[in-house]
Amino acid sequence: MEVIEKAPAKINLSLDVLQKREDGYHELEMVMTSIDLADRVTLKTIADNQISIRSNNGFLPLDQRNHAYKAALLIKETFGIQLGVDIVIEKKIPIAAGLAGGSSDAAATLRGLNQLWDLGLTLEELAVLGAEIGSDVPYCVYGGSAFATGRGEKIEPLDEIPQCWVVLVKPKKGISTGTVFSALAYDTIEHPDTQAMLAAIKTQNYNKMTQYAGNALEKTSIIRQPAIETIKQKMLQFGADTALMSGSGPTIFALCRKYSRAQRVYNGLKGFCNEVYLVRTLK
Ligand code: C5P
Repeated sequence: MEVIEKAPAKINLSLDVLQKREDGYHELEMVMTSIDLADRVTLKTIADNQISIRSNNGFLPLDQRNHAYKAALLIKETFGIQLGVDIVIEKKIPIAAGLAGGSSDAAATLRGLNQLWDLGLTLEELAVLGAEIGSDVPYCVYGGSAFATGRGEKIEPLDEIPQCWVVLVKPKKGISTGTVFSALAYDTIEHPDTQAMLAAIKTQNYNKMTQYAGNALEKTSIIRQPAIETIKQKMLQFGADTALMSGSGPTIFALCRKYSRAQRVYNGLKGFCNEVYLVRTLK
């Protein structure tokens, strides 16, 4: 038997950093939503008691550094499973991009193994396991739109956001999340209005949703990669309703209500950057 799980990318409509905690992590408030750019994770039981990972992306580590590997190992160890698994990851989501690609692969592996090995775990239980792998994994277990707090692992599912088109640009160089958090200058943080964003979603007000999109990590990432600001400005010039960095970056996304506008932003940015995507928000 084989199980196939879709592993969608996410964008942060808002991301606020409240404070640094004693355990080194940061207390966050994030509004996230899934987009229609996804990896595909295929899981198959093998008799040999090992975890094997293959991928179409040659840059992906295939050992214990891979989040899907960590997820499989965690399930095997937690439930004392003596079977092996063959994991194939067809990568579409850029790596180290702020789109939670690795976390989504891990979440897909947790959901998939729950099914493959008939573990009967709820999404809540899978999310608790996911928090051991990374802060974004619990959100990815659920997907859709959610409000995430704590270090990102406390998830409150939200109503569907007003649907729109998303143009993504991934600058060439990736950024490590840890590096951005440790370079954060607290006194210069621009805090987004999270409550206003939540209210915009609740009332299905697209204009307000774009107005209150904000990311407290953006300035810090722009200092490391000024291209983020240049791309953002170009997206706005080409007519995006809003443009913002996702997660710790470096990917920037533009939101557009109209497809024709999204196409204009997409075509405009294609002239400057290699990795440009035009997708939809996921319901
Ligand atoms: O949880 P995860 O391993 O994905 O986080 C990567 C790094 O990002 C952490 O080691 C930490 O430096 C930083 N981080 C943080 N506060 C968070 C989430 C991540 O400081 N809430």
